[in-house]
Formats: sequence, C-alpha cells, structure tokens
Amino acid sequence: MQEKRYTYFLLAIWKNIAYITVNRPDKRNALNTLVLKELAEILADLKTNDQVRGVILTGAGDKAFVAGADIKEFQDFSSDEAWLLSKFGQEEVMDELYTYPKPVVAAINGFALGGGLELAMACHIRVAVENAQMGLPEVSLGIIPGYGGTQRLPQLVGRGKALEMIMTGEMIDAREAQQWGLVNYTVPADELMATCERLLEKMFGRSQTAITAAIRTVNIGLMEPEKGYEEERDAFAAAFDSPDFKEGVSAFLAKRKPNF
Ligand code: COA
Repeated sequence: MQEKRYTYFLLAIWKNIAYITVNRPDKRNALNTLVLKELAEILADLKTNDQVRGVILTGAGDKAFVAGADIKEFQDFSSDEAWLLSKFGQEEVMDELYTYPKPVVAAINGFALGGGLELAMACHIRVAVENAQMGLPEVSLGIIPGYGGTQRLPQLVGRGKALEMIMTGEMIDAREAQQWGLVNYTVPADELMATCERLLEKMFGRSQTAITAAIRTVNIGLMEPEKGYEEERDAFAAAFDSPDFKEGVSAFLAKRKPNF
C-alpha cells in the first residue's frame, strides 16, 4: 500500500487499483479550487503509474460523495470568474476523467449533487449505495450546471429525464437513478467498495490497450457522432498490430487464459 498526503484527498494504491477519496467531509466534500487542482494532479500522476490499472473515486464519510461546487467560494464571482472556474473544472478534471485511459468507477457513497454528480458522470461507471441521493440543484441557486452536467446527464438518462432533473432541481434516489441508467448498480453501503473492485478486476483480466481504445472510441462517438464509426474502424484495425491481439487470440485457440 502506498500513501501520499494532500490537503483534501486520501490516495491509496493497493494491487492494481488507485483509491481516490475526496476528504472534506465537514463540507460534504464540496469542490473548491484546491480540491479540483489536487484531483487534476492526482489523475496526472496515476496516468503514468504502471501499477495502476483502474481507479475508484469516492467521498469521505457516510453522508456525501460530493455535494457540489463550493457555493461559498463562488458566491461573489463575476461572470468572467465563473467562466474560468467552469473551464478549469471541465478541462482539468471532468474531461480528464471522461477520457481517462484507465477505467474509473465512481463509488457514490451519499449525496452526489451539482458538481458532485457531474464528477460522478465524468467517470466511466457509477455504483451507488442504496441511500444515495443525486441531482443537479443549480437552478435553485439561479445558475445552471457548469461542469458538463447539461451534456452528460442527457447522454445517460435521455433528454426528457435530464431536463426534468435540471429544471426541477429535485434529487432522485439510487434506485431511480439506476432505473434511468444514471448508475450501473445500487448496493448496500458495506458492499460498495467490493462491487467496484469486482468490476475493475474483471477488466484487469482483459487487454488494457483494447480497453483504452474502447473508452476513446465510445467518447468520440458521443462527442462527435459523425466520426464515431470511422474512429471505431481505425481503432479496430490498429488493435490487430498489438501484442495483446496476438496473445488474446493465441490463448483462445490454445484454450488457456490470456496473459495481458
Ligand atoms: N458548498 C459549500 N459548502 C457546502 C456545500 C457546498 N456545495 N454543501 C454542503 N456544504 C457545507 C455546509 O455549508 C455546511 O457547512 P457549515 O458546517 O460550515 O455550516 C456543511 O457543509 C454541512 O452541510 P449541511 O447542509 O449541514 O449537511 P446536511 O448533511 O444536513 O445536508 C446536503 C447535506 C448535501 C443536502 C446540503 O449540504 C446541501 O444541500 N448542499 C448544497 C448542495 C448544492 O446545492 N450543490 C450544488 C452546488 S452548485
């Protein structure tokens, strides 16, 4: 186990998984600028850490995953400052997670609101505890989601439910979130981490190169739909040159497990 110290994070690496915990429970793990900066730094470090093949992102305490952007911090922001805050959060954290080359699972251990839900939606997969509550309450503050929520929520739940959630600002619970495809699994709190670990461990038995290509191709298809099929064809073709392809096919034909 490796441990590093941050103001607002706990980071542990165990076997092939990096556990990133937003550690600001007294403020329900709200995202201020330093939280975002530290998370950007952690993600950059883990990207080049060969021991790490997957990431679990969660919040400290049993109340919140992340209760949103830090309302206190932005209360006096001008429009220009708000624009920069949104750009920084989107580019350095949310888009980074969305396009991360290693699988990232959000372990939603409580409230995921506003920027907290946007953070979870930027991850590749979401697992929530049964009593988690999720929503984009920005309109009750007179603003709209600024970390990609207006784009990523419709991708997951469809335009109708996304607009309902965004326009009412109401929370939904984990079961409803699962019905709409916002979370992949809803589990009792004491099974949260094991469920996330099991998902990642399944992926660790597959080709990491292929998983990275799949993440990229799915994202391009969603962001630039006209390019999706072409990108898939190119990535499919490129995979045939990879050592993982040789190993995967040889293992199948020899009736053994591949060693990626
Ligand atoms: N930004 C800044 N501070 C926040 C915060 C946020 N998004 N969410 C919670 N906090 C702070 C509270 O101000 C409070 O601080 P204090 O102890 O100094 O007064 C502390 O965290 C605990 O919050 P509290 O409301 O007492 O906790 P709770 O468990 O009763 O309720 C929530 C939890 C998440 C339902 C509630 O805090 C909430 O609605 N937060 C705001 C959610 C939101 O609108 N997010 C979108 C932001 S764009």
